Amino acid sequence: MAILEVRDMCKSFGKTEVLKGVGFTMERGEVISILGSSGSGKTTLLRCINFLERADKGQVIVDGKVIFDGSDTAKKSPSEIRKAQLNFGMVFQQFNLFPQYNVLENVVLAPKLLAKERPDFKKHKKEILAEIETNARDVIDKVGLTEKLMNYPCELSGGQQQRVSIARALALNPKILFFDEPTSALDPELTGEILRVIRALADKKITMVIVTHEIGFARNVSDRIIFMDKGVVAEEGSPEEVIDNPKNERTREFLKLIEQK
Ligand SMILES: Nc1ncnc2c1ncn2[C@@H]1O[C@H](COP(=O)(O)OP(=O)(O)O)[C@@H](O)[C@H]1O
Ligand SMILES: [Mg+2]
Repeated sequence: MAILEVRDMCKSFGKTEVLKGVGFTMERGEVISILGSSGSGKTTLLRCINFLERADKGQVIVDGKVIFDGSDTAKKSPSEIRKAQLNFGMVFQQFNLFPQYNVLENVVLAPKLLAKERPDFKKHKKEILAEIETNARDVIDKVGLTEKLMNYPCELSGGQQQRVSIARALALNPKILFFDEPTSALDPELTGEILRVIRALADKKITMVIVTHEIGFARNVSDRIIFMDKGVVAEEGSPEEVIDNPKNERTREFLKLIEQK
């Protein structure tokens, strides 16, 4: 069974139709990269799947369970939305760390807030907090930042800050991790360290959707490539199919433009 199925997502902002019926499915452990020129709707698609934006139409199905249905007229309550969001982790172009907290505090913050809602929290507070910290140290280790545990965001490079935001997403143990151009706010010499972390997660069979302009990386890390154009999936297939032998004229043009950069 697919871990994620996105069906017929449609989203307009005013008169601008940004998503015009986007759909795809993915299996557990799969890595999909989404390519497409600026303005094709990639960020909007990720935001709609993650409940940061409400799609006008469409469905999001996780592990066979419908978590979003655009035809529902009843709005979900904030707590229902938060619960549905927990299926996903999201890493943005901007790192969005809390400047007043150190690395460890940034990573434990959300799990702690969540734990406080558990009915058994008061009774097992000490054990629960200890477990959260152990898990946080583990994900910080996964992104190679154990030495920076007590440092503040302003003391870290952009690449290190982005690694903290990856650790923060991993700390909630999401079923699927989404990246929206995770290296585009970084100096070119810092992109490699982020790509290596994502590669290591792929090797651990973490299910990921990556929006990126790093074509070489996408070819290397992805099981499948989706090429978006003007709010639709214009082409989809293996990296060999879509990147090396694109069938769609728009895919060809896009790849040519990227090559020239
Ligand atoms: N909140 C918004 N309000 C109005 N228009 C938006 C909003 N978010 C995105 N758009 C428009 O939607 C289109 C697609 O944007 P986006 O999803 O960011 O594309 P991409 O990530 O592929 O560059 C753009 O024309 C953008 O201006
Ligand atoms: Mg974008």
